[in-house]
Amino acid sequence: MSHLLAPSLLASDFANLQRDVELVNASDAHWFHLDVMDGVFVPNISFGMPVMEAIARHAKKPLDVHLMIVDPDRYIQTFADLGADVLTVHAEACTHLHRTLGAIRQAGMKAGVALNPHTPVESIRDVAGELDLVCLMSVNPGFGGQSFIERTYAKTQALRATLDEEGASDVLIEIDGGVGMGNARALVDAGANVLVAGSSVFKADDPLKAASDLANA
Ligand code: DX5
Ligand code: ZN
Repeated sequence: MSHLLAPSLLASDFANLQRDVELVNASDAHWFHLDVMDGVFVPNISFGMPVMEAIARHAKKPLDVHLMIVDPDRYIQTFADLGADVLTVHAEACTHLHRTLGAIRQAGMKAGVALNPHTPVESIRDVAGELDLVCLMSVNPGFGGQSFIERTYAKTQALRATLDEEGASDVLIEIDGGVGMGNARALVDAGANVLVAGSSVFKADDPLKAASDLANA
């Protein structure tokens, strides 16, 4: 299976948000990646429901919503109503992760869990059957434009092995942070299925070409 590309709108021009949504619509990218930050789980605040509602009005591809917020259970139905297709919560923010993942699926979305760079892949083994996607953070979450953590290649391979052992080979592995043409192919070779790319798409001289290159890397 070839991989999917999910440009992160965090790196878009918020003053030209509709233009950048249309750019992704017209590109070879597969999903929209939407980073919701609360200033508590991560040291930054990005955007919330009203902005997501505006994005959803124009987006013509699946919405991959990455919640970097504490106690995400409070908003599962809200994000379902806003049109999220994939809803990813952080393992570090969920006391009852198994229940949370069940609630996400119950609300009709694909259930994702994100792991911070320090969180071992072993932490998803006992919920592998409740998952549709694991997002490996290849930077510390909170900001775009950070340097890729090289350890992520080994972590991707270890996660792929764990999912296979648990009979959960269909679970998608997504890599988020510092992804670009310098590491895209190697990440897919290590077992990644979805590449998130913020700066490497929207800060490129030619974002459409950058998206095409990354989608076909
Ligand atoms: C970081 C976010 C990422 C970010 C990636 O907390 O989860 O999705 O937008 O941005 P780049 O690709 O610039 O590292
Ligand atoms: Zn993200």
